[in-house]
Amino acid sequence: MKRIGILGSGKGSNFAIIAEAAQTKTIPVEIALVLSDVPGAGILALAERRGIPCRFVAPGKFRTKLEPEVELEYARQLKEAGVELIILAGFMRILKAPFLSAFENRVMNIHPSLLPAFPGLEAWKQALEYGARYAGCTVHFVTPEMDAGPIIQQATVPILPDDTPETLHARIQQEEHRLYVEAIRLWCEGRLRIEGRRVRIL
Ligand code: GRF
Repeated sequence: MKRIGILGSGKGSNFAIIAEAAQTKTIPVEIALVLSDVPGAGILALAERRGIPCRFVAPGKFRTKLEPEVELEYARQLKEAGVELIILAGFMRILKAPFLSAFENRVMNIHPSLLPAFPGLEAWKQALEYGARYAGCTVHFVTPEMDAGPIIQQATVPILPDDTPETLHARIQQEEHRLYVEAIRLWCEGRLRIEGRRVRIL
């Protein structure tokens, strides 16, 4: 059984699926701690309902990152909870080197595009506006450069003629939920090996 920690700022649909997979033993994990930078975030309410330890930790004065002392506090709380893997599930702040070196190669993120296309915010909207035929999602290890770490898994989703940002995002999220659980399972089984930029699935 692996202990994992989850960071999120939003509604927590990926968290909910991961929590369900943990509870039904689809993946051999225990969610030891959920932290959020947003008071009253959906993810905290969902965690509370499931009896999973969860906390809001105030992010400090910056908008796109945590204040350095706060970031260390996040790392401290996760270490104290005995967490081995960190899952970013809609966490809207960039994590910096001190945090990432405390959990080297042990932080995963899911991004709603086929990286390296469309990094950054509202990637599904970027793909739609660009006129791409396919969108998708990417699970990757987190490095200090945003949305640029070694890719673990990707799934494609067609962009349909009548798609709106909302319909496309919903279709991508369905794939996210499947893909994230799969990536966590592979990690738990010790089947992900990082070789430079590439992740070999054993
Ligand atoms: C997802 O679309 C994910 O790709 C992005 O943030 C969103 C989180 O959604 N990183 P949710 O809170 O898991 O529903």
